[in-house]
Amino acid sequence: MVKIKIDGVEYEVDEKKNLIDATKEVGVEIPYFCYHPALSIVGMCRMCLIEIEGVPRLQAACNTPVKEGMGIITKSDRVKEARAGTMEFLLANHPLDCPVCDKAGECRLQDNAFGSGTGHSRFEFEKRNIPQEEIGTNLIINHNRCIVCYRCVRFEEEKVGESNLGLFERGNHSIIGLAKSEPIDHNYQGALADICPVGALLNNKTLFKSRVWWYKSHKSVCHGCSTGCNVTTNVRDNKMYRYMVRENFDQGMFFLCDKGRFDLDWMNDNRLFSYLESGKPSTSQVVISKIIDRLKDAKSIAVLGGAHESNETLEALKQNLQTLSRELSGKSIQWETRVTDAQNKETEQVDFLLTKDYHPNTKGAVDLGLTTPSGISGIVSAVKQGSIDLVILLKESIPEGIDPTQVISLDTNLTDAAKNASLAAPIQIFCEAEGSFTNKNGLKQTFEKSMNPIQGLQTSAGVVELIVKTMTKKMEASVGNR
Ligand code: SF4
Ligand code: SF4
Ligand code: FES
Repeated sequence: MVKIKIDGVEYEVDEKKNLIDATKEVGVEIPYFCYHPALSIVGMCRMCLIEIEGVPRLQAACNTPVKEGMGIITKSDRVKEARAGTMEFLLANHPLDCPVCDKAGECRLQDNAFGSGTGHSRFEFEKRNIPQEEIGTNLIINHNRCIVCYRCVRFEEEKVGESNLGLFERGNHSIIGLAKSEPIDHNYQGALADICPVGALLNNKTLFKSRVWWYKSHKSVCHGCSTGCNVTTNVRDNKMYRYMVRENFDQGMFFLCDKGRFDLDWMNDNRLFSYLESGKPSTSQVVISKIIDRLKDAKSIAVLGGAHESNETLEALKQNLQTLSRELSGKSIQWETRVTDAQNKETEQVDFLLTKDYHPNTKGAVDLGLTTPSGISGIVSAVKQGSIDLVILLKESIPEGIDPTQVISLDTNLTDAAKNASLAAPIQIFCEAEGSFTNKNGLKQTFEKSMNPIQGLQTSAGVVELIVKTMTKKMEASVGNR
């Protein structure tokens, strides 16, 4: 840490940071556009100009590391005038279409115009008017709103490793466009829209779906793979609308991939809310009672899956299964959470963020010891040979070669597994409770409850608890009858 003076007040700040991040940490905001903590610094927008004591000209804060004893001024008339000038230039060509812009409410241009603009413009000419274009399979560019900050170009080159976008023409005619004839089709189109500080790049999956101020936001963790990117969930009317990146400086997390970002429909649609018997809706009493009969009749039981559940649900489920085994006179219940090839291997990356393990909590499940010596292949052969005759699936598909009549499915959605299994019970999705996932590096990250489960909907641990309670009640009743 080093001591610096900001507007005459001494602060201790991290010496590894530049002036924008160091001042933000102590609550002093320097406005900016082109700077991004995870991208190279280009100093293009000139919005972050500040005074440094002893230096005659204004300096770009994004390009200035902190130094012991330095004094900076962020609120002088010179600084204010420079910022107002930059805003006037940026707004010369920018349309006044906030009312129809998807970025409104979370737009850096709006915020900086409000904080540093003058409220009037001397620009008397026609603003440029270039038609909107689709430049990706999920991505639209509105050229008129672009402030040419170059973030999108840098992100593609430096993080995605592709150069689909480029800056063409000069001066007033500068335009961001496709450098190739093909539209962008990589896994980071949502991230491009996210890092665009204005409403120039827009992802058309959430376009015009909601105003941002209608969302309820919660801190969460992406469920899409074992990387566990930090997200802010945006929920409206108890429906999951968006995942937005939640920057985590300590872990270097600044982006989301499209695979995780857009995999949200299953949280809202095709949910399983009723108990099923051979795919047909039934009551919880009937299905739980039939599950109990199956558990009692089984020689040996296997539980498969669970690496999409939080550590807390897994711990509770582990305890409840131990109780269940005791109630069944010590019957063997094996639990294997690693049901895919990717879960059984060292982490393999698909790209710079996404891994091949599409379960968010494989590591947490392994740390809790929820594995078997023979693995999923051993369990499947034991089922085929008949030494295991009942399989409880936790939000997984029925493994090839296993007869659906031997399967009880606990699922969040009306999946093929739930429809084909002999019995099925509905369970909550992870974000309907608070909890934590442990990512591929062993980092345990907590998440808040984002959505409310419908009344009576249990976690998988809750369903097993209900089974145990019903079973013990039944046993007590039959003892009383004698
Ligand atoms: S499209 Fe957005 S991110 Fe790209 S240069 Fe323009 S304003 Fe910046
Ligand atoms: S890399 Fe994984 S955790 Fe990160 S956004 Fe993509 S799917 Fe989600
Ligand atoms: S943020 Fe410093 S010049 Fe753009």
